Amino acid sequence: MSESNVLVSPPISSGQGSSAPNAPIKLGVMASGNGSNFEAVAAAIADGRLNAKIQVLIYNNPQAKAVERAKNHGVPAVLLNHREFDSREALDAKVAETLKQYDVDWVIMAGWMRIVTQTLIDAFPGRMINIHPSLLPSFKGIRAIEQALASNVKITGCTVHIVTLEMDSGPILMQAAVPILEGDDADSLHRRIQVQEHRILPAAIALQAAKETVLAPT
Ligand code: GRF
Repeated sequence: MSESNVLVSPPISSGQGSSAPNAPIKLGVMASGNGSNFEAVAAAIADGRLNAKIQVLIYNNPQAKAVERAKNHGVPAVLLNHREFDSREALDAKVAETLKQYDVDWVIMAGWMRIVTQTLIDAFPGRMINIHPSLLPSFKGIRAIEQALASNVKITGCTVHIVTLEMDSGPILMQAAVPILEGDDADSLHRRIQVQEHRILPAAIALQAAKETVLAPT
């Protein structure tokens, strides 16, 4: 494990659940690539749309651009390279341990291009959120945008959902529709889908956080 930008030592975990009413929810973000969704969450926090704090970014690909974004926002970034682990479970056990070390309450998979196992789901039951570039339950799995183009549908979009063991199948929190236009290719369509992703991912997190505040025992 290497930490590219340690600004603070990992806090001692106080367990799940935010400590005080209206306390920011503590997020751990997992990303493999560009990190534009990380940026959208960070921007929503910065401008007050989302009462949260990103405790840590976990990335599995040393080239992930998300790292630069984390640095710019003063968020510690931890590399857990899947190639250095013997199994998916071993990687997920280390991911879970790291998220706990950083006192994370909610886990956001923002372009984490790995299949997650029960090991990680059990560590954050019902508290892992994923963003997927299709209107689920259509076009699960990889190349969702190419799948939509190949199927000739006229509308696709993006979905924010709770992570369960079955890939891209957990309870849906929020969706946005995106029309497929004449002449669209995967890049042009992905760009328009991402505009919507950047709206609904922070909004869905905020909704979950609000539910937690309202429903929290006093
Ligand atoms: C997004 O399109 C998301 O739906 C998918 O991976 C992509 C990540 O994009 N799961 P970015 O790295 O946040 O820019």
